[in-house]
Amino acid sequence: MPEADGDAKNFYTDVPQANDGFFLKGSGSLDWGMSNRLARVFRPQTGRTVMLAIDHGYFQGPTTGLERVDVSILPLVPLADALMCTRGILRSVVPPSTRTPVVMRASGGPSILKELSDEQIAIDIEDAARLNVAALAVQVFIGGEHETQSVHNMTRLVDLGLRFGIPVMGVTAVGKQLTRDAKYLRLACRICAELGAQFVKTYYCDEDFETVTSSCPVPIVMAGGKKLPELDALTMAHHAVVEGAAGVDMGRNIFQSDSPEGMMRAVIAVVHEGARPEDALEIYRSSTGAPSGQSTRS
Ligand code: R5P
Repeated sequence: MPEADGDAKNFYTDVPQANDGFFLKGSGSLDWGMSNRLARVFRPQTGRTVMLAIDHGYFQGPTTGLERVDVSILPLVPLADALMCTRGILRSVVPPSTRTPVVMRASGGPSILKELSDEQIAIDIEDAARLNVAALAVQVFIGGEHETQSVHNMTRLVDLGLRFGIPVMGVTAVGKQLTRDAKYLRLACRICAELGAQFVKTYYCDEDFETVTSSCPVPIVMAGGKKLPELDALTMAHHAVVEGAAGVDMGRNIFQSDSPEGMMRAVIAVVHEGARPEDALEIYRSSTGAPSGQSTRS
């Protein structure tokens, strides 16, 4: 019996089926849904991401620059590869028509008035799936007072994420007594990866950062930290990606800048286009209206 669509078929019997490896470090054995979500957060063309972090309110309330997310942040969202936020801000402020993937803050509990490491998981995995998040973010306090509890938060989320195909980003927190050096960051990042985080967010350190990225078997994204002069922030991002980071997850250095949109575009140029910090600074400056080469407020 002939088939309804005729006999003119081409089975390309001489063309082996492509079997490409996944583009992200250490991510070749993940399931399709999780890989697809990672490919929304990280650009397959560059293997990097520029995430915009605006989740600070989950422990410190209306942070400077985030008083009105609808006014100050929504215009930036289309520029970001991913938006890191809480589910409260997502549901109350971010329109569901946004095409920018969401990395959702998934731990919380204590405010700045209490011991910060005393966090719990702060979202049900079914709600994360309902919100169509691309990844979950959980703080891990290595060396902190509630170290084991925070590691356990991460491992439970990793187990839940594996059930739903949602990757988990371990976020290394730095305790009051801990220095932000390569030795500490290697320890913290490696623990996150060993215990299942699909990617890790950590701080940059001036010395030996490449040993932090090379000893972590999954991608690392650089956290921004407190507001720096724009050139310093761009230089830090440049060093981080040159030394092995798969991008950045920056907040205050973008939304506390004189021109958040200009700073977003400058960071994107550094991370995705390999722009030199000085050239990227010109992108920022041109958005402020400042003449080329003139210094800007830090
Ligand atoms: C901190 O715990 C929050 O997760 C922030 O998202 C993170 O610190 C990145 O923001 P910033 O670049 O302002 O440090």
